[in-house]
Amino acid sequence: MPPLAFPFFLLLISLSASSSEAGSIGINYGRVANDLPTPAKVVELLKTQGLNRVKLYDTEATVLSAFANSGIKVVVAMPNELLSNAAADKSFTDAWVQANISKYYPATQIEAIAVGNEVLKPSLWATVFVDPNNTTKFLVPAMKNVHASLAKQNLHTAIKVSSPLALSALQSSFPASSGSFKAELVEPVIKPLLEFLRQTGSYLMLNAYPFFAYAANADKISLDYALFKENAGVVDSGNGLKYSNLLDAQIDAVFAAMSALQYDDVGVAVSETGWPSVGDSNEVGASPENAASYNGNLVKRVLSGSGTPLKPNASLDVFLFALFNENQKTGPTSERNYGLFYPSEKKVYDIPLTAEEVNASSSTPSAVQKSQVPVSGGEASTTSSSGQTWCVASGGYSEEKLKDALDYACGEGGADCTPIQPGATCYNPNTLEAHASYAFNSYYQKKARASGTCNFGGAAYVVTQPPSKFLSKV
Ligand SMILES: *[C@@H]1O[C@H](CO)[C@@H](O)[C@H](O)[C@H]1NC(C)=O
Ligand SMILES: *[C@@H]1O[C@H](CO)[C@@H](O)[C@H](O)[C@H]1NC(C)=O
Ligand SMILES: *[C@@H]1O[C@H](CO)[C@@H](O)[C@H](O)[C@H]1NC(C)=O
Ligand SMILES: *[C@@H]1O[C@H](CO)[C@@H](O)[C@H](O)[C@H]1NC(C)=O
Ligand SMILES: *[C@@H]1O[C@H](CO)[C@@H](O)[C@H](O)[C@H]1NC(C)=O
Repeated sequence: MPPLAFPFFLLLISLSASSSEAGSIGINYGRVANDLPTPAKVVELLKTQGLNRVKLYDTEATVLSAFANSGIKVVVAMPNELLSNAAADKSFTDAWVQANISKYYPATQIEAIAVGNEVLKPSLWATVFVDPNNTTKFLVPAMKNVHASLAKQNLHTAIKVSSPLALSALQSSFPASSGSFKAELVEPVIKPLLEFLRQTGSYLMLNAYPFFAYAANADKISLDYALFKENAGVVDSGNGLKYSNLLDAQIDAVFAAMSALQYDDVGVAVSETGWPSVGDSNEVGASPENAASYNGNLVKRVLSGSGTPLKPNASLDVFLFALFNENQKTGPTSERNYGLFYPSEKKVYDIPLTAEEVNASSSTPSAVQKSQVPVSGGEASTTSSSGQTWCVASGGYSEEKLKDALDYACGEGGADCTPIQPGATCYNPNTLEAHASYAFNSYYQKKARASGTCNFGGAAYVVTQPPSKFLSKV
């Protein structure tokens, strides 16, 4: 354990903390699992941890009832599937607000409604934005109707209406000062969304994961920078501001994108951020040590009260992702391992969650401090230098798993999937296996064929013959 590095890092934080109000820490209570404690037990767990803000992904009755009179503030959600109904019909949102909000408020302190989740995220194996269900055009009309229904009950000032955006809504995020939204989203949805947030005194919700950026560019991004550890920092070539961590830079990219549209006055809350404690072999950086560092240092950074370099006076409200490991989530292994707690309520790792604990951990060695060890297994050596290798999809792998892996490769993994879009050069043969092979290989080559980067949870393997042989097979 390095004895000096960590206290020095804390000192830097406390020196910069004096000018603005502290932000707050909340946690996402996802329930895509079949082994979680009862909602009543979850409320007790949050209380014992000193967590007083929680975000849900629906308005489930037993959960909302359990939070009644708990002193815990709750963000609820309207699922994506309801957006078209909510946009079409005020009587639908009237009934929804009545049955799902008014019924529980104010005993349950609902503070905001997330209308939809990552509606603007490119889905399936597209790097370009596609919207097969036309959800995008329903988003802002649905938010307006929910707000109008709240207003009928005079709940519209107490309960904010927003919608979490994924960072992928940005066209450009590096350097942060060049942040801009995807051009095709600006007029149809981003401007109306920001205008709605301004008019209603609400704020933008942002889901931001430095882990994805790091895992896809581990050769370029410093792990210490991603984990809020002491590092040289990154100077923004656009405005000269210096960033000490990647999350600040991601948030400021969104602020810059909003500023470019003249919405400087709208605030941002981080509705999800986290780091997985376990991942597949190609998910570079996933480990309990790194997850503890990321989340523990994030809590310290948020509770210290400083804003981001672009908005130093804006306090940061952050919802960690997530409370529990969720065993029924699909996708790569990391998806099931973001929790701070196991379903047994045992901690996956120990980090401070309150200002008191942060203060205490600054004078005594903490788990975060102990966890300052270099990432293991991440920096893989390249495969045998004898000849070229390629990565292809395993035959006979379940369609669902293959789709998830493809989704990951083309999305967060950053593979170039433009050639397998309809009409593009490598669209044919139009089979899942061929598209997956193309994407896996793109990712693998991009990673310089590092060992572990052709795995995708077992859905891929390395071959020593050119992939055209596989890809042209019908
Ligand atoms: C309450 O919300 C749930 C899910 O969010 C939805 O299925 C249900 O229809 C809503 N109730 C009403 C009356 O709209
Ligand atoms: C479109 O809607 C259908 C039916 O609700 C759903 O199964 C499917 O996953 C949606 N597709 C996308 C890309 O969201
Ligand atoms: C989406 O909108 C387009 C154009 O308005 C329409 O042709 C298409 O049928 C719609 N798709 C769905 C699933 O509603
Ligand atoms: C932050 O607040 C301080 C003190 O109120 C003020 O002097 C400074 O100009 C503010 N900075 C920004 C970027 O708004
Ligand atoms: C943490 O320590 C600071 C500085 O010593 C003090 O001002 C603050 O009140 C403490 N906060 C808590 C919650 O103990």
